[in-house]
Amino acid sequence: MDITGFIGRLHPLLVHLPIGFLTLALLVEWFMGKNQGKSQVKVIMFVLVLGALSSIVAALCGWFLANSGGYENNTLAWHRWLGTSICLLAIVAPFAKHYKQKKSYRFILVAIGALLFAVGHFGGSLTHGSDYLLQPLRGDKGDGYSNVPEAKNPDSLIVFQHLIRPILEQKCYDCHNTEKDMGGLNMMTYEKLIAGGEHGVVIEKDPWSSELIKRVTLPSKSKYFMPPKGAPLDYNEISILKWWIEQGFDSIKSVMQMKPDKNIAHILATVYKVDTSPKTFFERTKVDPMDESVLDSLTGMGWQIKRIAQDNHFVEVSHRFDTPLSKGSLSVLGKIKDNITWLDLSGIKLTDSDMDGISKFKNVTKLHLNDNAITGQGLRALSELKNLESLNLNNNPLSVEDQDWIKPLTSLKRIYLWKTDIKPEYIEQIHKTSPELQIIL
Ligand code: HEC
Repeated sequence: MDITGFIGRLHPLLVHLPIGFLTLALLVEWFMGKNQGKSQVKVIMFVLVLGALSSIVAALCGWFLANSGGYENNTLAWHRWLGTSICLLAIVAPFAKHYKQKKSYRFILVAIGALLFAVGHFGGSLTHGSDYLLQPLRGDKGDGYSNVPEAKNPDSLIVFQHLIRPILEQKCYDCHNTEKDMGGLNMMTYEKLIAGGEHGVVIEKDPWSSELIKRVTLPSKSKYFMPPKGAPLDYNEISILKWWIEQGFDSIKSVMQMKPDKNIAHILATVYKVDTSPKTFFERTKVDPMDESVLDSLTGMGWQIKRIAQDNHFVEVSHRFDTPLSKGSLSVLGKIKDNITWLDLSGIKLTDSDMDGISKFKNVTKLHLNDNAITGQGLRALSELKNLESLNLNNNPLSVEDQDWIKPLTSLKRIYLWKTDIKPEYIEQIHKTSPELQIIL
């Protein structure tokens, strides 16, 4: 049984009694003014004595509580000694009143009033952190997430700086800083945190063997549980810490570089309002509007051009079958090359020599080359099309052997190879090197 511990914990409860009595004495004194009758003096004396007795009890409990440890030293010293001075002044006050030391008495009462404010503030800082009072004025909700910068771009949001540090700042800095490094652990800088405490490193490769994670996930009754005072870490904060450690607890990697899994992506979206879902090509890429006169001349050459949506300037282009592909027609199409994202060049007698001209359409995501005369020699030129997701080569006399041209096509998801002269072994090979790629025969 820990009697002194129990007495210490009465402090936050009992401390309100002297605050009430002493403030009441001050107010009654001010209200009654100079001409006080005998009974009025009696009432004030009674309140003063209650104030003195209750502040002695509260101060004693306070000393016990402070001895139980875990408080930030500087703030504690201020709170302790200002509180003790109130107690002493409260003891002197009834004597000053009784012996009619008017000046000193007035000074004592005013001093008590002022000290009550200061002691209350330091007391609040001890239990709730040093920013407690001003947090709401700064728009800080005190939940640890408010320090997240406005930049919600997961590519520029740095995990340590923008997610980890605010959690530690909110919940751990009070006792683990440069002046007060309890357990030898200072978390104020990345280097110091990594260096660890008096028992060595607190962060290891495996989050579950890291002292830092162990301490915050212990049963909260354990004497090793962190933080020993104040709000514990919640599920989201622990998940973010664990994820950061799992990913190598680097100090400069961004949210995207640390590859958030589903759970982390959900926390980032709901708590931090950071969207980590992969962006589509059209969200990532912006192009300028096209010149109307160029569009007119292209239409005259047999090209059909359609906008794919109203909120961007991308187009879908195909060639009319009834108009033969004129010489140089592909190079004129080059004038709107950035705007073309779906290109249908099926059935217009293309050969390998036309492939070079196609490689400049860098924003093409869907390319139809079916029903042409491509043999395969020219396919290498297509390696330039980094955004290509779907490629249709159906019905071409293809007889390629090497697949070096497919590998650089990192966005490619589907390839159509029906009615070509491609051998089954070749298909097999593609399957092996690009298992994600869907081959449609
Ligand atoms: C109210 C003060 C206080 C707060 C707040 C606090 N700690 Fe501590 N911490 C201590 C004390 C005291 C020790 C030394 C005694 C011990 O090891 O339990 C310590 C020790 C540690 C150690 C062991 C260091 C070593 O090498 O021995 C770790 C790890 C730790 N704290 C993590 C945290 C984390 C993480 C937070 C924030 C979630 C936190 N602490 C918040 C007081 C605090």
